[in-house]
This record gives sequence, C-alpha cells and structure tokens, in this order.
Amino acid sequence: MHSALSIHQTFAGRHILLTGASGFLGKVWLAMVLHRVPTVGKIYVLLRPKALRAALDRFERMVATSPAFKPLHELHGAAMGEFIARRVEVVEGDVSLPGFGIQDPELAARLHRDLDLIVNCAGLVDFDPDLREAMSTNVDGARNAAAFTARCARARLLHVSTCYVTGLRNGTIPETLDPAFSPCGDAFDVDAECAEVATASEQILAAHESPDAEAAALAETLEQMRAKGQDEGNQMMVRNILRRVKRQRLKDDFVAEGQRRATRWGWHNIYTYSKSMAEALIAKALPPERWSMFRPAIVESALEYPFPGWNQGFNTCTPLIYLLGGWFRHMPARVGNPFDVIPVDFVCRGLVVAGAAMLHGQHAPVYQCGSSDRNLLTIDRAIELTALAHRKHLRAHGDTALERVLLSRWDAITTDLDHLFSVPNVRSAAEGLRDWLRETKFPKFMRRRADEWADKTDDALDTVETIDKMVDLYQPFVHDNAYIFTSQALFAAPVVEPEFHCDPRSIEWRRYWVDVHVPGLRKWCFPLFENKTPPAYSPRHAFKLPRSATSEQAAPEHRADARVAHADLGRAQLSPQLAGHLAPHHAEVL
Ligand SMILES: NC(=O)c1ccc[n+]([C@@H]2O[C@H](COP(=O)([O-])OP(=O)(O)OC[C@H]3O[C@@H](n4cnc5c(N)ncnc54)[C@H](OP(=O)(O)O)[C@@H]3O)[C@@H](O)[C@H]2O)c1
Repeated sequence: MHSALSIHQTFAGRHILLTGASGFLGKVWLAMVLHRVPTVGKIYVLLRPKALRAALDRFERMVATSPAFKPLHELHGAAMGEFIARRVEVVEGDVSLPGFGIQDPELAARLHRDLDLIVNCAGLVDFDPDLREAMSTNVDGARNAAAFTARCARARLLHVSTCYVTGLRNGTIPETLDPAFSPCGDAFDVDAECAEVATASEQILAAHESPDAEAAALAETLEQMRAKGQDEGNQMMVRNILRRVKRQRLKDDFVAEGQRRATRWGWHNIYTYSKSMAEALIAKALPPERWSMFRPAIVESALEYPFPGWNQGFNTCTPLIYLLGGWFRHMPARVGNPFDVIPVDFVCRGLVVAGAAMLHGQHAPVYQCGSSDRNLLTIDRAIELTALAHRKHLRAHGDTALERVLLSRWDAITTDLDHLFSVPNVRSAAEGLRDWLRETKFPKFMRRRADEWADKTDDALDTVETIDKMVDLYQPFVHDNAYIFTSQALFAAPVVEPEFHCDPRSIEWRRYWVDVHVPGLRKWCFPLFENKTPPAYSPRHAFKLPRSATSEQAAPEHRADARVAHADLGRAQLSPQLAGHLAPHHAEVL
C-alpha cells in the first residue's frame, strides 16, 4: 500500500489539459475539480468548434446552461465568471488532428512546457459508427494524445478507455494491458491493423466511385422515390436524394467493414475494437511512466455530484431502461450475469485519484473503475429494479388508465433468447396479424377498421424493430458474456479527502436504481427519445466570462472546414447509434 494521497495537495498549482469536456464524463470531472480543488493551477479545456460555434463560445454556453455546473454556480454566484477565467483556458482543437489541431504555435509551446497532466476523455461512444469516425476520434485521437504528451516536458497522459476493451471473453478481467492483445487470442499488431484499415478504406471509396456503384445508387434513389410517389422527373430532387443515398451506402459499407474487423478479432463492436487499438498505440508510443489507462465500466447517473440523478444524453443502458418502461418487459439476458454499472461521480472521483497517483509518479498502468468485483449488481436484479422504478412512477403519474392499472403492475423479467415473448416471436406474430388484417376479405363495414388496425400493427412493428436492434446491441454484454472487472488499483493508496473516495461498496443498488438513476433518466434523458427537451437550467446569476478573458482567449477564425480526415479518407456525417429510430445523441447542442 502506498502512503496516503492528498488530492488537494497534489493538484495545487498543477496544469492539466482536459479533452472531451463537453461530454457526460468530461463535464462532471471539470465541474468537480473546479469545485472541490479550487487550488488547481490551470485547466486547459480542449474543445473543437462545432455547429458554427467557436470553442470559447461553446465553453461559455456549456457552463452557462449545463446542470453539471449547478453546484459551482451556487458556490460562486455572480463571481463565477471571474473564478472560471482564472482557472480555465479554452483551447480550440480537435483530438483527431496532429498536435491536437492547435493552430497557435506559441500556445502549443506553452502547453508543452507547462502541462503536468493530460486527461484524454474525448471519444466516440457509439457502438457501431462509421469506421472512419471511430478511427479518427478513438484511434488517431489516442495516437495524437501520445505524440502530444511525448512533446511535453513532463506531462503524463491519463487516457480514458473502457473496461470492455476486453472483448468477447468471460471471467475475471485483470488490470493489465498487452499491446498485442486481441480477445480471440491471435497476436494483434496495431500498426498493421491501422494500415489494413487504411487500405480497406481506400478500396471502399474506390468501389463507390465505380459506374456500377453509381448505377446501383441511382436505382435505389428512383425506387425510394417511386415508393413515396415522388416525381422522378424532378432532376433537382433526384440529385438531392441520390447524394443522400450515396452517403448512406458509403457509410453502411464502412460500418460493415468495421464490424467485420471487430468480429474477426473478438471485439463486440467497432467501439471496443477502436478503444482497444487506442490503448495499444499509447502503450507502444510512450514509456510506462508517462501513461495510464483509466477504464470505466458502464457509466450512469450521478449518485451525489453534481446532484443525485444527473445524466446526459443516450448513455449506454438508457435506451434499454426506456424501452422497459413500455410494453417490452421480457429482456433476454442471462440470470446472474454481472451488470457493471458505476455512477458518473464515482468515475470522476476515480479519475481524480488516478490523476493524483500519476502526478506523484506512483500510478498503475491500468485503473478499472467498475462495481462488479466490489459490489455486484446482476442483470436480473437491474431489470427487476428498473421495472420497480417504472411501476412506481406509472402508479402515480401514468398518462392513461392502461398505464396506471396494467403497466404499473406488470413486472419485467429476464428471459431466454427463444422465450415465447422474444422479439422474433413477437415480430412474426405481429406480421402475421398485419397480413391477416390486410388480406382477409372482411365485410365492407369492417374493411376500414381492419386497415386502421393493420396500420397500427405496422407502427408497433417499427417499435419491435427498435427493440430488436437494442437487444442485439446489448446481447454480448448482458447475455453472451460474463465479466468481473478487477478494480483494485484505485484503492492502492488511501485518499485523504472523503469527497474523492470512490469505493462502490457504498452504493445501495435498490435506492440508487429506483430513487436516483431511473428518475434521473426520466428527467434528463427520456425526453430525448420522445423529441422533447429536458428541463432547462439557468443559474441565478447569468454566466459570462469577463471581457478581458474572452479577448485574450479569443478563438482564431472558425476552422471547422479546415479539419482533415483520417488518412485523407473523408468524413461521413456522425450519426447516432440508433439513427432513424431514436432522437438525437446529446441532450445539449453546445
Ligand atoms: N459513457 C460511458 O458509459 C463510458 C464507459 C466507459 C468509457 N467511456 C469513455 O469515456 C469517455 C467519455 O465518454 P462520455 O460518455 O463522456 O462521451 P460523450 O458524452 O459522447 O462525450 C464525448 C466527448 O468527446 C469529445 N470529442 C469527440 N470527438 C472529438 C474530437 N475529434 N476532438 C475533440 N473532442 C472530441 C466530444 O466533444 P464534442 O462535444 O465536440 O462532440 C465530447 O466532449 C470516452 O472516451 C468513452 O470511451 C464512457
């Protein structure tokens, strides 16, 4: 056991670069450190410009409107702007670009000279995105983070990864890292894999330029237009739809290529494949004293900070919990499998503790931050508690009598994949019903009603389709594999300040799930599934950085169009994991 670690003493006067500050984890980490360690030197917040907003503008808006900063606003009131300006400097950049895309050489040199720690929280968290996006953010992002660290005089890199880099395996997963690791056991060479991805990507792009591909895209465009009764003679419309069709076909091929590669090596999806490649690249690029991997498990609503229940966007199990509030109550999962959930504030405290250990040079190579080995929550218990939380809510607030009377009494259960109410069974029953309604010769007076029911069954089939996708997505985590993630490294040294203790043994799952987590999701995340807006937050004192700070930090001319793509392969539009089925990815468009 190391000697006791004081977070306050360790972070005092230290300079830290944070990426991913606009994300779920990054925001809570930033708010927590500014709140609880006000003696920190400077936090450089690296943000990219987005949606025509410069980085500084995004930062101001984020602090002014995100509930994650509520305790900080309450503490500083009207002086919040001054406080933030003294401790934070916004850096416009992009992790997928060499040198993090920082354009100002003086700023880059200052960072290389002054930084003590880089916390790389930026990542693309969609399970199966366009392979080019995963490569540029997760893989190039890690490569650039390592190169940036190497140029620094003394900074160390704390890279946020995920426990699930372990891939499709079972059992106890140690806190170790082997750059040649692949879950299937074959030796993995990350540089060779990156080169193969680049070659495969060039081939995909070339294939899409071919006359055959053009003809196939045009045929699909015209078919789509015909199905919708659109005018095929309208050349402008044809061109617009054709452009969309081509983009989607290209993306589909990149997703398929990524899935093929992930499966070949034994990872669940493109996300865990790319995150594991990131780990290997960093471990190969930097000496051990300069890096550490921080692997959270499934990050969920805050237990306590910024306040109980805070959550943002569609994070990992939110869609499942949402769907279990409706008619879908039979979740295919294996009874007894660990469901390794950890509240976001525990993760951020852990990230601070690991950062402090790095600043002392006493760090472990890997910190896993989960609950399964210290306070096990099983998937069946999580499903039971989810149903309990939904039932409690529906009894009191159900919109219809059906919800208050029936759904509020209907338990959710863990089932086998081939259960009577499994998604394929429900789908084929619904399809059978729809076809019967459409094809049966009803008396004239019943025909209209039968058509209405058939349409409703079609709508229900869309929901079944969404559920099917979700079940597929989660199957490796809740059914096929069972992991216990060793989480010991974080507890190697006792931490002096209790507000940074992150031992999940203190979590009481029933209270957390029913009274904190699901109500938090209902407030902050479920509205997004229904195309509604979560409650707005505005502090009592409107937040603005002081003028001097904004002019000093004024962002250079907007450079969104100057971003280069991964290996010059072009970027596809980042699309959410369930595009077309669920609403946009983030609660806040910053
Ligand atoms: N959420 C989980 O359950 C979970 C579990 C284990 C590990 N993790 C890891 O934790 C990290 C943070 O996850 P999260 O849940 O906070 O994700 P998130 O909410 O989706 O946030 C992702 C962050 O990464 C930033 N980012 C993406 N691409 C970037 C780029 N090219 N340059 C600069 N910034 C970029 C985003 O910035 P923009 O606002 O500009 O898009 C955003 O701030 C990720 O590395 C993830 O792999 C998350």
